[in-house]
Amino acid sequence: MSDQQGKVYFVGSGPGDPELITVKARRIIEEADVVVYADSLVPQEIADFAGPDAAVYGSKDMALPQIMEIMLTAVAQGKTVARVQSGDPAVYGAIIEQMRVLEREGVDYEIIPGVSAAFAAAALLKTELTVPEVSQTIIMTRTEGRVAMPPKEQLRDLAAHGCSLVLFLSVTRMTKVVRELRAAGYERETPVAVVYRVGWPEEQVIRGTLTDIAAKVRDSKINRQALVMVGEAMNPDLRSPEYVEEHGSAVSHLYSEDYTHLFRLSREQQESRALAGAGDSPAD
Ligand SMILES: C[S@@+](CC[C@H](N)C(=O)[O-])C[C@H]1O[C@@H](n2cnc3c(N)ncnc32)[C@H](O)[C@@H]1O
Repeated sequence: MSDQQGKVYFVGSGPGDPELITVKARRIIEEADVVVYADSLVPQEIADFAGPDAAVYGSKDMALPQIMEIMLTAVAQGKTVARVQSGDPAVYGAIIEQMRVLEREGVDYEIIPGVSAAFAAAALLKTELTVPEVSQTIIMTRTEGRVAMPPKEQLRDLAAHGCSLVLFLSVTRMTKVVRELRAAGYERETPVAVVYRVGWPEEQVIRGTLTDIAAKVRDSKINRQALVMVGEAMNPDLRSPEYVEEHGSAVSHLYSEDYTHLFRLSREQQESRALAGAGDSPAD
């Protein structure tokens, strides 16, 4: 037993690509005495950041009591534990039950955020999930499986907003997803992208619409570790220079010369400031 108690870090390690981990997360893994990593979704390369003397455990076959026992024993010996999770721990990370035990035992802990698979997938699709006049809202949710959804969070109700949707843990229920989204009002031609294992060597994207995506996913045999991204923001044509000419919309005002905000004055304001000798205008 050590006089001084150790500490637990819940570390978000990103979607899989070992270069998509934050500098802080990597340092904490490198310095930890004990690393417990979710080896179903976190690659070996990330566990390999651990120092040569660290004890490293994969947690995919462990139940909560076993994981907590490893962490509590280490902390009681004054050691630092890195509990390494995929993506960002705040998104389906099942950390609340771990934190409850640490609170009960009076153990110090901290959460280090990570790049969620949702944002890695958006990057892979080369999209912006909040395209002006298309969607300014992202709903991250899942379909009901073994975990029941709260009554007000049924996919059909959430999808009624018609915004960008990111569905975790849902790729095995594509027929139901399509049925619910159609019932909520998404058009048959709504773009859908299923992104499998983004950031891993075997990453894969299946693009389609609500008409054909269920069949495409079935044919692909993908049945885990995928995100279902739905909405007009997933339309690759949005990037086309002709899109604005054809649709007359979907541009952000943020970088428009006429749009002013706290850090940037309009061209007119800049000119009158310069005339008044007010010096440089704030940059954006
Ligand atoms: C337990 S949740 C963890 C999510 C994670 N905390 C995050 O922020 O990305 C696991 C689900 O996230 C999604 N997921 C996690 N990593 C992924 C990846 N590299 N590519 C695609 N989907 C992923 C899948 O839907 C998977 O079933």
